[in-house]
Amino acid sequence: MVHKVQAVVVRAKNAPVTLETILVPDPGPGEALVDILTCGVCHTDLHYQQGAIGDSYPYLLGHEATGVVAAVGADVTNVKPGDRVILNWRAVCGECRACRRGEAQYCFNTFNATQKMTLEDGTELSPALGIGAFAEKTLVAAGQCTIVDADVDAAAVGLLGCGIMAGIGAAINTGGVTLGDSVAVIGCGGVGIAAIAGAKLAGATTIIAVDIDPKKVALAVSLGATHGIDSRETDAVEGIRALTGGFGADVVIDAVGRPETFTQAFYARDLAGTVVLVGVPSPEMTIELPLLEVFGRGGAIKSSWYGDCLPSRDFPMLVSHYKAGNLDLDAFVSERIGLGDIEEAFGRMQRGEVLRSVVEVVGA
Ligand SMILES: NC(=O)c1ccc[n+]([C@@H]2O[C@H](COP(=O)([O-])OP(=O)(O)OC[C@H]3O[C@@H](n4cnc5c(N)ncnc54)[C@H](O)[C@@H]3O)[C@@H](O)[C@H]2O)c1
Ligand SMILES: [Zn+2]
Ligand SMILES: [Zn+2]
Repeated sequence: MVHKVQAVVVRAKNAPVTLETILVPDPGPGEALVDILTCGVCHTDLHYQQGAIGDSYPYLLGHEATGVVAAVGADVTNVKPGDRVILNWRAVCGECRACRRGEAQYCFNTFNATQKMTLEDGTELSPALGIGAFAEKTLVAAGQCTIVDADVDAAAVGLLGCGIMAGIGAAINTGGVTLGDSVAVIGCGGVGIAAIAGAKLAGATTIIAVDIDPKKVALAVSLGATHGIDSRETDAVEGIRALTGGFGADVVIDAVGRPETFTQAFYARDLAGTVVLVGVPSPEMTIELPLLEVFGRGGAIKSSWYGDCLPSRDFPMLVSHYKAGNLDLDAFVSERIGLGDIEEAFGRMQRGEVLRSVVEVVGA
């Protein structure tokens, strides 16, 4: 059977998103059909609309979601109908060279649904990050479903499905932030403030929030940063050094992903410190750095895909921290909107008015 559902699609580069009827097939072997409850609006959805990720239009947007499993295909054993799940974009294969060496968080061969969702005229959709959850139902690989407790706010925990996990993981998994570290985070959107929450969870004692928007800096300070820098007023590198005894921070996280913010991160870390790039650059961006500085500063320059997370390990653990009061996921839910409100939500994101707008799917 094919399900006709409402979903949010972008048909061409820079075209406004449209609410459309799409066709979602029943799950085949290894697949799960999921009734979507909530889906956060991530900057990566906007990157898809703007053509920064690829040219495989039409895209079915949305990828930061919770839902309830509606049906599963043959051979699926990890989930069953009725399970509350967070969708992930890292269904690991268990067999690639990363998985074989016990580093499944880097899996190079992750799974998505094999069958295609389509527009009513049969045009195949490209689901954002292999998910496509600004929809009443979506079809994913069963491994993209991670079971979590159902007795928590779906809108809050669903954010672990992308941006919040990416930020927390950038600090803890990729940056290796630990007790007593100094950490600076450049860019205080959902991802950056999540990196601040992650640094706090890991026991960092100095956490510096940097943004060009003073509202975001203030928000970051209210949510765990110990210091804030408005980088339109104060040079980010000088400011971070001044707050770390003149040395720079142990870990600097670029949660913007632009040449200027990456360069700030590079120079604002202490000797032997770590730079983590979690913001996603666009294809035309390049940087130039003196190679002697790259060598002389030592340490590590790392990028963080999805916070180097393992959904099966990290989602339930972070939900436990949320329930125990150690991680304030509610603070990331700025507003609850409908499927028809995405374009306006992109505007509010670009104007810095929200951390996360979360779509609640009506009728779910
Ligand atoms: N690596 C991953 O796995 C992953 C996952 C999710 C999102 N992302 C990426 O992370 C980035 C941030 O996402 P978000 O949802 O938090 O976006 P957002 O739009 O909510 O936040 C971006 C923040 O950066 C600030 N900013 C912009 N230019 C700046 C500059 N030059 N200096 C300092 N601050 C600046 C903005 O004021 C805003 O507060 C995006 O590039 C997104 O695609 C990466
Ligand atoms: Zn693998
Ligand atoms: Zn995302």
